Amino acid sequence: MRVWAVANQKGGVGKTTSVVTLAGLLGDMGKSVLVVDLDPHGSLTSYFRYDPDQIGGSVYDLFKSSALLDEGLATQLLLDTSHRNIRLIGASTAMATLERQATAQEGMGLVVSKALATLWDDFDYVILDSPPVLGVLMVNAMAACERLIVPVQTEYLAIKGLERMLRTLLLVNKSRKRPLPFSILPTFYDRRTQASVQSLRLIRTSFPDQVTNAVVPVDTKFRNASSSGIVPSAVDSGSRGVRAYSMLLKSLLSQEVETSAGVTS
Ligand SMILES: Nc1ncnc2c1ncn2[C@@H]1O[C@H](COP(=O)(O)OP(=O)(O)OP(=O)(O)O)[C@@H](O)[C@H]1O
Ligand SMILES: [Mg+2]
Repeated sequence: MRVWAVANQKGGVGKTTSVVTLAGLLGDMGKSVLVVDLDPHGSLTSYFRYDPDQIGGSVYDLFKSSALLDEGLATQLLLDTSHRNIRLIGASTAMATLERQATAQEGMGLVVSKALATLWDDFDYVILDSPPVLGVLMVNAMAACERLIVPVQTEYLAIKGLERMLRTLLLVNKSRKRPLPFSILPTFYDRRTQASVQSLRLIRTSFPDQVTNAVVPVDTKFRNASSSGIVPSAVDSGSRGVRAYSMLLKSLLSQEVETSAGVTS
């Protein structure tokens, strides 16, 4: 099982869209995929037509029973989605209270990590969707994953938000055995605007080793997909946006091969 997280403290940069699109492409390849909604707003949960206000079991339950996280709990929370190879653990709006309750409690940073350990043989890939807030839920995402994907909207001042996110990463790295590898994914790219062109250039010169070759363009088909509850590749596999995510996925998968080669050699 490989675990990726998508996070950025800035809102509306394409995090949830990245999770859904990458999960869809992996699912299309026949991989079994779990997506986990760690955002109390529940956009990912709503995407797959569950209501975060009414949902029965969610990530919230993992935190509530973390002291006795029994083997079966995470399995009980798995929900079907419109894609036969993708399961969801949803978010409930009650998770908003966790940020207040959980920070003081010991071990709360590893709840998601421990829950995923109980599902280790059940999925090929797990993708965690993070809220745009630095708190216990984002910290859980960063502690549980082996690669972080940071979508960055190509606009003026994008780099400022990115720097903030990378400071958070440095903090998280202090409690990890190895620094968390991350990929910066430029999103909402529109080559007709100076803001897009210049900010992409700045991101590339500032983070040459981390920025992905794939650049996600503005593509209205993402919104259409979200209103239908179907993953973008199933709505239009040839759209420009989906093609960009395919390119991203290819590079993520090839990095994986490199990493495991590095481990065995
Ligand atoms: N490349 C894109 N082109 C056009 N629209 C997009 C693109 N990516 C995402 N969107 C749309 O922009 C909106 C915000 O995207 P998304 O929900 O993925 O961002 P987010 O970072 O998860 O937001 P939040 O911080 O609120 O969780 C959604 O309506 C989505 O459909
Ligand atoms: Mg989101």
